[in-house]
Amino acid sequence: MRRVLFYDANIFTPLMGSAPSSGKKQGEVVVYERGALLSENGFISAVGATDDVLKKAGGLELDLEVDLGGACVIPGFVDPHTHICFAERREREFSMRLAGKPYLEILKAGGGILSSVDAVRRATEEDLYEITLENVYRALSLGTTTIEIKSGYGLDTESELKMLSVIGRIGRGTPLDVVATFMGGHAVPREYKENPDAFVDLLVKEMIPAVARQGIASFCDVFCEEGVFSLEQSRRILEAAKKAGFKLRIHADEVNDLGGAGLAAELKTHSAEHLLAAGISNLKAMAEAGVIANILPATAYSLKKPYAPVRKMIELAVPVALATDCNPGSCFTESMPFVFGLGVMNMDMTVEEALVATTLNAAWSVGMQEKVGSLEEGKQADFLVLDGETPAILAYHAGVSPVVDVYKKGVLVA
Ligand code: NIG
Ligand code: FE
Repeated sequence: MRRVLFYDANIFTPLMGSAPSSGKKQGEVVVYERGALLSENGFISAVGATDDVLKKAGGLELDLEVDLGGACVIPGFVDPHTHICFAERREREFSMRLAGKPYLEILKAGGGILSSVDAVRRATEEDLYEITLENVYRALSLGTTTIEIKSGYGLDTESELKMLSVIGRIGRGTPLDVVATFMGGHAVPREYKENPDAFVDLLVKEMIPAVARQGIASFCDVFCEEGVFSLEQSRRILEAAKKAGFKLRIHADEVNDLGGAGLAAELKTHSAEHLLAAGISNLKAMAEAGVIANILPATAYSLKKPYAPVRKMIELAVPVALATDCNPGSCFTESMPFVFGLGVMNMDMTVEEALVATTLNAAWSVGMQEKVGSLEEGKQADFLVLDGETPAILAYHAGVSPVVDVYKKGVLVA
């Protein structure tokens, strides 16, 4: 038994309810001033007022006592949406976008996601692992302790399985909890350009069953967008995945409103992603169905698009989570502090709402809410020590990371 007592910390954490936090609850965070946390074998056995925690710890043999000197402590970030497993960056394409070429046109011309597909197909599994590892360690040092990672740059059975194998190894080879998502429906590969429905057939008949057989992904995602997968094709893919035992999520209404948010509500997916162009009636349907909005403000920033209507979503009681979307194309950042800052400064979220969105709601959206996302008894001792008095430092100290120490299961990992 490894028993560690952390004391003299100002602990800010959301508290778990029976569903993701929405509406007023989106902004509810408790504060334990000069509080303490007891970690036993990586799990929290007491947290709160120092006297209460000491009562619990009294008489127990401690392996370590850590004086946090009055620092601000929050749960480790959960990044619930990334494409962080890729083989090459696309910096030149970024310059093309800056010069005015739209993101979807680059894809249509065979670049964008498709150039990442070429790179992943060319890469050995070892190379892909090394590159991904570097990106993921950067995320860890910025406070991400749980991460969702999608495949979707392989787009043939062999290459998708290669990506998912790498993603699995990242989970086993790093301190992070990794949630793997199969996203064979990320784009239509060149060889199916003239017949996208045949690619949907391949997804449904070969790729989804192959991934399910290996049990190496818990979620399935699809890019529902003009020129990518239509609403009907997305439905077919997601329904097949559901039958095969996957949990679902969907890239919905990122550039154009195809009704992806409505499909998310209909299928009761865990989350719907992006939603920059989603219509109000579909957002209402999401609220009723309890679908989490995974909002990716760094993508709006990088695509120079208006931000998602988060205030409206909170008003409609759609639970909101925030994620990086880290990928080599539409948005290259591993930084949850950056995303937190954009949430507060550019989408008018309160600091508390952004904290819930980057921790507990993000955990719900990847099905990890029982283990991570808040500092409560029974959960993993995954937490961050910040160089500031409150989580507001994440928005206030712009362009730098105030994450000083990262603890995963009670162990200092970054
Ligand atoms: O979420 N929209 C689709 N997928 C990613 C972009 C992937 C890429 O450009 O490589 C996104 O923005
Ligand atoms: Fe994405």
